[in-house]
Amino acid sequence: MMTGKVIVLGVTGGIAAYKAAELVRLFVKGGAEVHVLMTASARQFVTPLTFQTLSRNPVHTDLFNCIEEQEIGHISLADRADLVVIAPATANTIGKIACGIADDLLTTTVMATKAPVLIAPAMNANMYMNPLYRSNEERLRNHGYLFVAPVKGMLACGWEGEGKLQDPAIIYQEALSALTGKDLYGEKLLVTAGPTREELDPVRYLSNHSSGKMGYAIARAARRRGAEVVLVSGPVCLEPPYGVKTIKVVSAAEMTEVALREFAAATMVVKAAAVADYRPEIRAEAKMKKKGASLTLALTQNPDILAEMGKIKEERILVGFAAETAALVQNALKKLREKNLDLLVANDVTQEGAGFSVDTNIVKILCRDGSIEDCPLMDKELLADIILDRILAVRDQKRGRESE
Ligand code: CTP
Repeated sequence: MMTGKVIVLGVTGGIAAYKAAELVRLFVKGGAEVHVLMTASARQFVTPLTFQTLSRNPVHTDLFNCIEEQEIGHISLADRADLVVIAPATANTIGKIACGIADDLLTTTVMATKAPVLIAPAMNANMYMNPLYRSNEERLRNHGYLFVAPVKGMLACGWEGEGKLQDPAIIYQEALSALTGKDLYGEKLLVTAGPTREELDPVRYLSNHSSGKMGYAIARAARRRGAEVVLVSGPVCLEPPYGVKTIKVVSAAEMTEVALREFAAATMVVKAAAVADYRPEIRAEAKMKKKGASLTLALTQNPDILAEMGKIKEERILVGFAAETAALVQNALKKLREKNLDLLVANDVTQEGAGFSVDTNIVKILCRDGSIEDCPLMDKELLADIILDRILAVRDQKRGRESE
């Protein structure tokens, strides 16, 4: 997604300038060609050599540099950019851009480019709340400039509040999003992810090995592609995706309640969660004490959320997952039909590189019309986009049928 893209990264003069080094690293790792522009103030904080080393390209600093003008030229950088990112962006630079001032290399490039511009502000909390700054930001937003809001925290100036540069990993995700077509715009996607925990007593529970990585990757990819995403997540160790409404739940009963509530507004549903099929019949109020050599637990069946959704799905597109250890296609086809699904993503979790915990997966995507697509070993991030492509194909097929 980032491969071969030309990113022009503007670094302005704030203490967070050093964090832009990590951003350059992420862009380069993602396969982008990175050109860094530094303002004079930025050079007070970090040397151009840092960015030159990381980007493997010369760093541009002056508007009127004979050598640079001959070799590259500020206009040609503006033309070549697929995306301009400014991180950190000071109130001063944002104010200048909002007023159409182009008095240095960065503001001139921003003025001249036709590429999207993504701004990651970082400043003192009071400056960030200043009505003059706010109106500049609003003005730029109205003109289509994209922003990644800063976060709250302890600022270098000693104040606590909003103004800390957003995490470079999130700025990177937002840059990816700016480069991605919005083919899911207007869709409301509900994703469930992770395991559920069924408590036996205050210290023990029954659960499974689901890491939530597949569901989270789908939520991120769908947000990037313009969908409004709600993620209902069991207990996992993952950061909630930026820009996604994430609702944390613990038990299957909680997941049922929340998922069915959110289902009402959804146009598409992907149920990647590994819901526990059973819960203990009784949850002990106090810690259970050991008694004898063996213990028999009485379990009660949990509701099948996906099957419930299948009964009331109407025009929604419903996608299930199946984690199998044997007779993959046979079991998966049964689930597809019985739960009234449009697509089913089946994985044999005994295969190396597939299923729980790992970053990759090997799946078969089963369609209602009986077709089966083999997806070889690949990163879950990549697979997420393939699953979304197949969902779009189902949507377009349904729409085509309606208009006939
Ligand atoms: N699912 C669900 N609610 C449950 C159990 C499963 O919504 N109580 C959903 C999962 O999110 C997944 C699909 O159903 O999308 C298949 O889950 P899986 O555990 O593979 O299958 P089960 O239907 O539970 O059947 P079995 O455990 O017998 O394989």
